[in-house]
This record gives sequence, C-alpha cells and structure tokens, in this order.
Amino acid sequence: MPLTRKAYRAALLHSLADPAEVGIEASYEYFEDGLLVVENGQISAIGHARDLLPTLAVDIEVTHYPDALITPGLIDTHIHLPQTGMVGAYGEQLLDWLNTYTFPCESQFADKAHADAVADIFVKELLRNGTTTALVFGSVHPQSVNSFFEVAQKLDLRMIAGKVMMDRNAPDYLIDTAESSYTESKALIERWHGKGRLHYAVTPRFAPTSTPEQLALAGQLLGEYPDLYMQTHISENLQEVQWVKELFPERKGYLDVYDHYQLLGERSVFAHGVHLCDDECARLAETGSAIAFCPTSNFFLGSGLFNLPMAERHKVHVGLGTDVGGGTSFSLLQTLNEAYKVMQLQGARLSPFKSLYLATLGGARALRLEDKIGTLQPGSDADFLVLDYNATPLLGYRLKQAKDIAERLFVLMTLGDDRTVAQTYAAGKLVHQR
Ligand code: GUN
Ligand code: ZN
Repeated sequence: MPLTRKAYRAALLHSLADPAEVGIEASYEYFEDGLLVVENGQISAIGHARDLLPTLAVDIEVTHYPDALITPGLIDTHIHLPQTGMVGAYGEQLLDWLNTYTFPCESQFADKAHADAVADIFVKELLRNGTTTALVFGSVHPQSVNSFFEVAQKLDLRMIAGKVMMDRNAPDYLIDTAESSYTESKALIERWHGKGRLHYAVTPRFAPTSTPEQLALAGQLLGEYPDLYMQTHISENLQEVQWVKELFPERKGYLDVYDHYQLLGERSVFAHGVHLCDDECARLAETGSAIAFCPTSNFFLGSGLFNLPMAERHKVHVGLGTDVGGGTSFSLLQTLNEAYKVMQLQGARLSPFKSLYLATLGGARALRLEDKIGTLQPGSDADFLVLDYNATPLLGYRLKQAKDIAERLFVLMTLGDDRTVAQTYAAGKLVHQR
C-alpha cells in the first residue's frame, strides 16, 4: 500500500492525563497554531506549525482550518443502538420506561431490514456528533450487532458492541435463553471480535433481566476469549437497586451480583453507578472496572446525581456515556454541558480540562485503548475532529470574548453540539463533513 501522508493546521488540544491526578496544567497540551501529521491512518507528529512545517516534504498536502480547534475523536462509553427511535420518551422513570417504551422499540430489531436502516442512521449520528468510538448495546437480536458492525467496518471505525443477553423479566417476544444467549454471543465473537478495529462486548442487560444461569454463562464467555469487553447497567435507580436485593438476597449488594459471576475486570464497563457506595467503588477500582457517567440520562429518567468525586477518590476509571435513548442527545458536548450541572448541584466543579479528559482520554482508559485512541499522540489512530469556532452566530460571538483556551473549551462544551463538529476523521479518513 502506498504511503499516504497528510497534515492539518489548526489550534490543537488534547489531554495528557487526568487533572484529578496531575493537576490541570499538566493534564493537557495545546498548540495555538499547531500541525498534526497523519500517515497511513495514524498520527505521526504533533507540534507547533512553525516547527513542523519546515520538516515536511514539499509534496505533502496541508489542510488549514483557521478559527477551528482539532481535538481527538470523542468516546461514548455507553449508548443503545436500538433506542435511536425512542429518544425523548415522556414521563416515566427507569423500570416503567423500559416496559412502556424500550422493549417495544427494541422488538423492531427482529426485522433485519429495520436493523440495517437504524444502524445506518445511528452511525451517521455518532459521526455528526464527533463520536469516533462507542461502546454499544445492541438488542437481544444478533442481527442488531451484525448490522452495526457491517456499517462500522465499511468506515474502518473503532467500535465495540454486543448483543443484549436477557432471559427473564422482559416480554416473551424479547427474551433469549441462557443457552441461546451463550451460543449467539459466541458466534458474534467469532465473526467480529478483533476484526480490524472492531471489538465485542458480552452484554447482560442488567441483573434483573438475567437468570443466575445466564450471568454464569456471561462470565464463562469472558474467560474463553482474550480481551473481550463486558458492559451492563448498575445502580441507576433506587427501585432497581431494591429489586436486585429481592432477586439476589444472598448477595451483599448490586455490584456483588456481578462480582459473583466474574463480570468485573479491566474491560468491564458499568453504566450509571448513581447509587453505588464507597465499598463498591473500592471494588470497582481494585478490579480495574470502569463506570460510564451518563448525565443526560440520569436527569431525564430522574435517576439521580452521579458522585464523580467519590469515583475519583477511589481512582475508578470513568468515561462519559450519552445512554441514548435514556439519554437525550448523541452529542458528548451536550452531555458535558449536563455533567457540569450534575457537579454544580453537588456543590462541586467540573473543569473544562476534566471534561475534555472524560470525553477522550478518560473514556479511552476506561476501555483500555489509551495507546490507540483518546489523544493526538504520535502512534495513535488518526481519529480526530475539527470543531468550528463559528458554528453558530452566538458561539462565534461568545468565543470572541474568551480570553484563553480554558474559556474557549468551556464555552464549546456549554454551547456546542453537532453543529460545532465541522469534520470528523477516522483512521485518517474524512467520515463526516458538516
Ligand atoms: N437498565 C436496563 N436496561 C436499561 C436501558 O436500556 N437503559 C437504561 N438507562 N438503563 C437500563
Ligand atoms: Zn443504558
């Protein structure tokens, strides 16, 4: 394959570390007039334009984005493909919301043509919003995952997904069995896991919809293949937590149910965790498990306020999740806007650099992919965004008042959304142009 080399000139910003660990100043790198060099789908250099431009061969194409900020592609650590058609469903909290809206909507994925159509819309929406990697729940139907991965593979995206496993406490038309969920998941793993930039996640929906037998088989799958992911929900809603106590009286608590079935680990991501206690956070940290913080969903479903400072104290990995369709936006910028308010309501702050970290490197670390995505470091996949400072008249005017990159970044996260994402690049290829 011939070498393809391209360069992009703009302001460049990326996280280097968690501000909670190294302080804000050491947590990021910023080049006001920077240059990003991309070779064969990977980043090969980053620096000041004045330093790098003279080193480039004369035939290299340099694309200049003045009045724009290049950042790493955003990482959504929790989202549901089959809930694309039900975002903004009125009036219920988690358990009624699942029965009234979610299960009927997901049942449509029994039809492969429907799954194909929604996968197409879903991936376009991710890219329009600057999300280049997502950890995705399919429906109970294996074809939901096939449809999604088929689209992701064509675009050479780094994506993780799994078929939902649920064999009880859901309508008959939507459940599998412990055995069928095991064999269907296995077939999907064999077909997709490690193909190009695709990875598989074993996906028990949450403890109430799986029998002990199914949870045991989920744990067994994780032991059978290296580097598989595990995704599920935990402690999102108080009624849900109470229900889990009733279903699993022999376990110490909600996390202990998953722990018992060997579902914790370095590639395990638990969505929400709004009502976790200190001991549970300590156990998540000890096992290297991660939490997906889903602020728009937690507000919309009235679930509660995620205690990010507690997770930080225990050094639990935390990524950001939109949780569409419980969440109300595909935009991780809008999700950060709400994350800031979650902290405000708890008398705490969320610095713009911590927000940047959560949506990029923090998500990459939660997924154990920090050597591949989440930063603009040389050697990383060239998954990056061009954010347009003039995306809307108000944004353009407001940013002219901003005195430094911290303020610009914060305003981008407060006023920004899909309109802000002018271009999305994945593996060095333009995959979305506004
Ligand atoms: N808990 C179990 N299933 C779901 C789901 O689809 N969405 C959310 N937000 N929580 C869940
Ligand atoms: Zn969810």
